[in-house]
Parts: sequence; C-alpha cells; structure tokens
Amino acid sequence: MDEMKITLGKTDLQIAPMGIGAWSWGDSLIWQFGKGYGEDDVRRAIETSVAGGIDFFDTAEVYGFGRSEKFLARFLRAPRAVIATKCFPFPWRLSATRLLPALRGSLKRLGLARVDLYQMHWAFPPVALESWMRAMEDARDAGLIRAVGVSNYSAEQTRRAHRELARRNIPLASNQVKYSLLSRGIEYNGVMDACRELGVTIIAYSPIEMGLLSGKYTPENPPPGLRAQRYSRALLARIQPLIATLREIGNARGKTPAQVALNWTMCKNTVPIPGAKNARQAQENVGALGWRLTADEIAALDEISERVHQNAPH
Ligand SMILES: NC(=O)c1ccc[n+]([C@@H]2O[C@H](COP(=O)([O-])OP(=O)(O)OC[C@H]3O[C@@H](n4cnc5c(N)ncnc54)[C@H](OP(=O)(O)O)[C@@H]3O)[C@@H](O)[C@H]2O)c1
Repeated sequence: MDEMKITLGKTDLQIAPMGIGAWSWGDSLIWQFGKGYGEDDVRRAIETSVAGGIDFFDTAEVYGFGRSEKFLARFLRAPRAVIATKCFPFPWRLSATRLLPALRGSLKRLGLARVDLYQMHWAFPPVALESWMRAMEDARDAGLIRAVGVSNYSAEQTRRAHRELARRNIPLASNQVKYSLLSRGIEYNGVMDACRELGVTIIAYSPIEMGLLSGKYTPENPPPGLRAQRYSRALLARIQPLIATLREIGNARGKTPAQVALNWTMCKNTVPIPGAKNARQAQENVGALGWRLTADEIAALDEISERVHQNAPH
C-alpha cells in the first residue's frame, strides 16, 4: 500500500489516512459479540486490515471490559502499527491519580510497555479536564505514552486541554468525535474549526453510522439489538435518499456505499476508524483507501446529507 501517511496532530506519529476501531471486539452489549462473529473473525479482521494498509488501531479499556485490548495483543502482528486506547473518567475515579493505574491496566492487557496515543474518553466530571491532562503529561514523562488525545470534547474543552498541555510543550494530538454523513454536528458546534485552528487531528468515530451507511439496514430490516432503539424505522426511511446517492456514486466507481461514506470523511480531513466484525467488512472498508471523491461528488453528498442528517441546525 503506497497510501500517503498523515501525521496525528503536531506529533511524530504517522498513520494511513484511515484506521480501524476495536469497540465490537469482545463487546456483547451493543455489538453482540459471540452472535454471528467471534474470536476467529476478530483475528481475521485484524489480519485483513493490516494486509490492506491499516496501521492505526483504536481501542479503550471499556471495550468488552478489556477484551478488545486483549484481542489486539493476541492478534495484531504489525510492529510499526500505532495503537490508541482510552481512559474512562468513571465517576468513582475521584482524582486524576487514577489515570496511572488505568493506564497500567491497559498496557498489561495490550502487552505493551508504552502506548502510542492515550485518550481521555469523555470530559465527564468530577475531575477537571486540566487535572487529567496533567496526569497525561506525567504518564508521557514516565515513558508510558507517546502522545495525548481526547475524545468527545467540545470546542471549548478542546481549547482548554490544548492550553494545559501547551504549558509543558506537549501537543494535543487528536480529538475523537462522532462524524459521518449522518452526524455532522462538529461542523456546526465549533469542534471542527477549533481542531483545525489548533492543529489537532479529528478522529471520526462511527463513520459508517454504526453500519447504517452501508445501506444494509432499512425500515424492513432494522439493525439488531440496542441499535434499533437509537435508529428508528422512521429514521431509516428518511435516510434512503442518502443511501441511494451513496450507491449511485459508488456504482460509477466500482465502490460500495460504505466505501464512499468513509472516503467522504477523509475528504473532510478527518481520520475515520470504522469498526469491522470480520474479514469481509475489514476488506470492504480498506477499499475506501487509495482514491478520492471529486469536488462535485462531495458537494452532492453534502447536499443530500444535510437534508436528512440528525444534527444539522436546520
Ligand atoms: N470515543 C468514543 O466515544 C467512541 C464511540 C463510538 C465509537 N468509537 C470508536 O469508533 C469505532 C467505529 O465506530 P462504531 O463501531 O461505533 O461504528 P461504525 O464504524 O460506523 O460501524 C461499525 C459497524 O458497522 C457494521 N459494518 C462495518 N463495516 C461494514 C461494511 N463494510 N458493510 C456492512 N456493515 C459494516 C458492523 O456492524 P454490523 O455488521 O452489526 O451492522 C460494524 O460493527 C469504534 O470501534 C471505536 O473504536 C469511539
């Protein structure tokens, strides 16, 4: 794969323009791990991704209660891959001193002495985000992490995290937020502008909108499990014109709706991290790399998605 690498924020971490998300690996609550896919599928999804040029893996201590991190340790054989995990600010973590034990737990499950990117999963109270950032700096000084990221931070929280880290000359590498053709809130709430201004990479999570933008879910065939509550039949009906446009653009290029949807997020200068439960999905998703939508195609997708997506202010 001779895909151009991109740099995460102002760090020295270089990755392909798309990564992969590891939430579903071991998660039975939302993703129904063990039902239709299992360990061997996860292994082959990882292997297929690496073979397809993916070198950025995003997990979290909470995914599958640690199982996702363990799967990465067991199945990822790519010494130069960039690995990201996250610290969850549980309400019972009453002080930022809890970051270090959480990080050590992740490192143990990942089988690593140091993780490339360590992210605060949310900006929840009670601990001030500045305190978490100072704990991140200490972890970096101790050689346990290479770069600092955040997730689900608003524009204002991103600025505060950036400012706190800048006091110790540490760049804020990334803000991982929900972004897809059906979730364009960051274009309107200041997050995208703030990240651009500060040189913080936007990592786009749920870039296929939890499977919806593949086009396989319809009012007659809604997604299984808890996703059915999040995505009503009415919503599934409303997005069909967008799916039709994805299909039309994809057909002309020999690409699938999911590949077009992923390419769109890259054209918006974000790094998508689609989840893949098996080799087939991983193989399809890597097909989003190595080409680029035209300005006209992007404009057509912008227009139709604005008419149907959930977060636009109109
Ligand atoms: N920081 C945060 O708070 C946060 C929150 C959410 C996600 N994330 C990260 O972002 C990653 C991706 O987000 P996500 O998993 O929520 O959503 P996503 O990437 O939009 O969708 C992934 C799901 O879509 C389906 N799928 C994937 N590729 C497909 C394909 N080619 N064709 C058809 N179906 C396909 C699979 O589920 P089915 O086959 O069951 O439909 C898969 O589990 C996560 O793994 C995680 O790393 C972070």
